[in-house]
Amino acid sequence: MLEIRDLRVSYDHIEALRGVSLEVKKGEFLVFLGRNGAGKSSFLLALMGLISPAGGKILFEGEDLSFLRPWQRVRKGLALVPEGRKIFAPLSVRENLELGAFVRCNSVKKQLEKVLEIFPVLKEKLPLPAGALSGGEQQMLALARALMSDPRLLLLDEPSMGLAPKVVGEIYRVLENLKGRLTVLLVEQNVNRALSLADRVFLLESGRLVASWPREEIDYQVLEAAYLGEK
Ligand SMILES: Nc1ncnc2c1ncn2[C@@H]1O[C@H](COP(=O)(O)OP(=O)(O)OP(=O)(O)O)[C@@H](O)[C@H]1O
Ligand SMILES: [Mg+2]
Repeated sequence: MLEIRDLRVSYDHIEALRGVSLEVKKGEFLVFLGRNGAGKSSFLLALMGLISPAGGKILFEGEDLSFLRPWQRVRKGLALVPEGRKIFAPLSVRENLELGAFVRCNSVKKQLEKVLEIFPVLKEKLPLPAGALSGGEQQMLALARALMSDPRLLLLDEPSMGLAPKVVGEIYRVLENLKGRLTVLLVEQNVNRALSLADRVFLLESGRLVASWPREEIDYQVLEAAYLGEK
């Protein structure tokens, strides 16, 4: 459903992505690991059209996304849960959720009901300013907001960052339920949790995919040396 060819991203003189190529099948759950600065967020931002790639092609269901604005990509079925959540703090929880559905012409109410079933904790907080939520609730809101557009390809950038284990568990229970129902590209530092859901795992190093494994074939020695070994 997604084909990425030689995707490149540069910030002035920094090459953040140096030619990433990848094919993703419908329903796959892919996990991307890599050290700080490896290019993980740049990869997701380029897919979403929030930064312009320096080169390469992104084909989603056979269609070239290159010239589409981020909101047009949302309409095509992509959604991003960005790093650091990026919720709109002064707006209410309900407004944040409705913004997630802004490209939908109708059925916002129905989608809201559907999403609130997944996150009952948000239901009680709909009128509150999003900034008043706890960190974990804000992460749930960011995920719920992305789901409001009813995406077919969900991009997640470190959804467990800075959260207590209990909350991370709740987020991962939701992701487990989504697995198979939509296609997911997940960037994570929380290796163990992420690997438990992965169909395939990729290692990103200095803007390149240096390893890829089906989950059953992960080379933990390589993974540890490249990634965990640094800790
Ligand atoms: N807006 C920007 N301007 C300049 N350089 C940037 C910008 N955003 C990222 N970079 C640089 O691009 C490289 C890749 O950054 P990116 O944020 O994609 O990495 P990451 O893997 O998501 O890191 P982290 O794990 O810290 O989130 C880094 O060298 C970073 O300093
Ligand atoms: Mg990042």
